[in-house]
Amino acid sequence: MKGMIFTEFLDMVEGSFGLAVKDRVIAAAGGTHDGAYTAVGQYDHREMVAMALELSAISGMTMQELLIAFGHHVFGIFVQGFSHFFSGTDSALVFLSRIDDYIHVEVRKLYPGAELPSFSYPPCAAGQLVMEYRSPRPMAAFAEGLVRATIKYYGQPVQLAVEDISGGAGTAARFTLTAA
Ligand code: HEM
Repeated sequence: MKGMIFTEFLDMVEGSFGLAVKDRVIAAAGGTHDGAYTAVGQYDHREMVAMALELSAISGMTMQELLIAFGHHVFGIFVQGFSHFFSGTDSALVFLSRIDDYIHVEVRKLYPGAELPSFSYPPCAAGQLVMEYRSPRPMAAFAEGLVRATIKYYGQPVQLAVEDISGGAGTAARFTLTAA
């Protein structure tokens, strides 16, 4: 997993919970980096899971809630850093329909070795988008945060239904978006 995701996570922890909590979370990661992640480095995603578990224990928030909040946070960074992906698109449904065949394809060119999930788009009714997340990593709630933040960003009323399709593992989920 890219260091950028780690540095953003630790920024969010420091901003929302303070330096002392950030230090405890870093200690829980159990890595050899002592929190000194670099944005372009590549790290084991299990360190991220260990940090999120520790933050969950400290804050009383569930892993699900934390990963959704983290998705919202990272979306804000994407809007700033990758504004060209957003221009020319005026709806959440259109933007999200291009993650797998355009945005993450471009991301892979920029960051060779990026560990990205896959999204498939089963056929659905007009005014709807169904997207299915699959990954070896249990980041479905992070994806949910990104999807919710996308809907908020475009500002049109969209109903979202989220279904776990991984038997509770968090490695696959179906998102059904319906334009109101
Ligand atoms: C401009 C928009 C976007 C950019 C630039 C972007 C870029 C990235 C990058 C750099 C990573 C980290 C890869 C790694 O750790 O090796 C990532 C991971 C991920 N992205 Fe995107 N992304 C974008 C939009 C989205 C959206 C809207 C979704 C949700 C539907 C999404 C879902 C994910 C998920 C869930 C991961 C975590 C890895 C996994 O689950 O296996 N991304 N993305």
